[in-house]
Amino acid sequence: MRTPQPLDHPFGVMRAPRELIFGDGHRAVLGEVVAPLGRKALVCTDRRFAASAAMDGMRANLAEKGIEARVFDGTLAELPSDSIHACVEQCRGFAPDMVIGVGGGSCMDMAKLVALLLTHGGPLERYYGEFKVPGPVLPVIALPTTAGTGSEVTPVAVLADSARDLKVGISSPWLIPYAAICDPELTHTCPPALTALSGADALTHAIEAFTAIRHPADPLIAHQRVFVGRNVFSDHHALEAIRAIFGYLERAVAEPGDAQARSQLMYGSVCAGLAFGAAGTAAAHAIQYPVGALTHTPHGLGVAALLPYVMRFNASACEAELARIGATIGVAGSPQARAHAAIERTQALCASIGIPRTLADLGLRRDQLDWVAEQSMLAARLINNNPRPLTLDHVKTLVRDAFEGVATDTRALA
Ligand SMILES: NC(=O)c1ccc[n+]([C@@H]2O[C@H](COP(=O)([O-])OP(=O)(O)OC[C@H]3O[C@@H](n4cnc5c(N)ncnc54)[C@H](O)[C@@H]3O)[C@@H](O)[C@H]2O)c1
Repeated sequence: MRTPQPLDHPFGVMRAPRELIFGDGHRAVLGEVVAPLGRKALVCTDRRFAASAAMDGMRANLAEKGIEARVFDGTLAELPSDSIHACVEQCRGFAPDMVIGVGGGSCMDMAKLVALLLTHGGPLERYYGEFKVPGPVLPVIALPTTAGTGSEVTPVAVLADSARDLKVGISSPWLIPYAAICDPELTHTCPPALTALSGADALTHAIEAFTAIRHPADPLIAHQRVFVGRNVFSDHHALEAIRAIFGYLERAVAEPGDAQARSQLMYGSVCAGLAFGAAGTAAAHAIQYPVGALTHTPHGLGVAALLPYVMRFNASACEAELARIGATIGVAGSPQARAHAAIERTQALCASIGIPRTLADLGLRRDQLDWVAEQSMLAARLINNNPRPLTLDHVKTLVRDAFEGVATDTRALA
């Protein structure tokens, strides 16, 4: 008799905005989407977008619907917590009915966290971790300008805690935006380096979601964990993302004006967000947080630099999934050959778009490796989501190999 397989009885959790609108030029629907929510909109963005023609169009669009917009343009990359408090202080008196986040992940996460603080009050530390947000927050409308973080659809916001000098996450289904409006035209201005690091961030989301741990089906799991591990819906979106990102990332980096590549890449990043927003991410994300804190390098660069090492380390626990990734990107052959090719091609793609090959290339020092491994272990939600169980010794080996550019010998770690 055939052995029962996990997918004989599918289990699925999808976490997504109430409305997800995608397409070139579709930002023009903003006024229609927000009109039922009230008359006052706080727009969280940064200096670059605030000075753009797209911002003028957005203001006009909101004004047409009789919506008063107050713009906060002080969002900084990687979202230092001081900037979140500055926004809340400046905008509290305005008493907005909704918060619009337009920009990269930093601006969208700013909108989520400002909506949280304006609804439930501070301090922010109260909400670090999972399920700490007590209830609904002001509606957030997210418009990404990078492809990217997927924050427009995810239940998490990431900030840099200015006092602790560490990135921290606040995860709650209440932080999922009310609506996401994904207009690939907004990414046409991304320079190649930004396209590369944000696209590689999306690829890491998709691969880590597709290879995440699979938990036994449990009716309470979606209310015990924000990130429930891989499932039928996350698998579907992760593979869509991998197909689109492998197909178009290099093109979008090489040809910033290639509208088809931009559109496919944004489609890939949204799908990756839908995948990891339920399944979660794993070791590459756990290790990037302390690496980013020490090297002050962007999140996307760090996770993508780590990704091939993590895939190699995990290969023995997820060969079938890696083989499926191989097939999705057009590799034929035995499962083992396809799994091997998936790792090699991921490394080659990252190299071709200029992602640093090692943690040393990111600026990490050898004497910082043990601290990085110890801090990574503190991100229990990410460590426990890894397909292969991780001990501190494993993470030390992984970090050392990613520092030296050595392919981790998975058998030696078994
Ligand atoms: N909430 C989530 O689900 C989630 C997931 C992954 C990462 N993140 C977080 O998102 C942040 C990173 O976001 P990001 O990679 O999108 O970058 P970002 O938002 O930090 O922006 C980086 C820079 O790119 C510029 N930029 C953005 N869009 C542009 C455009 N269209 N043209 C030209 N320049 C543009 C910005 O002005 C900024 O200077 C980090 O804080 C990371 O931790 C959040």
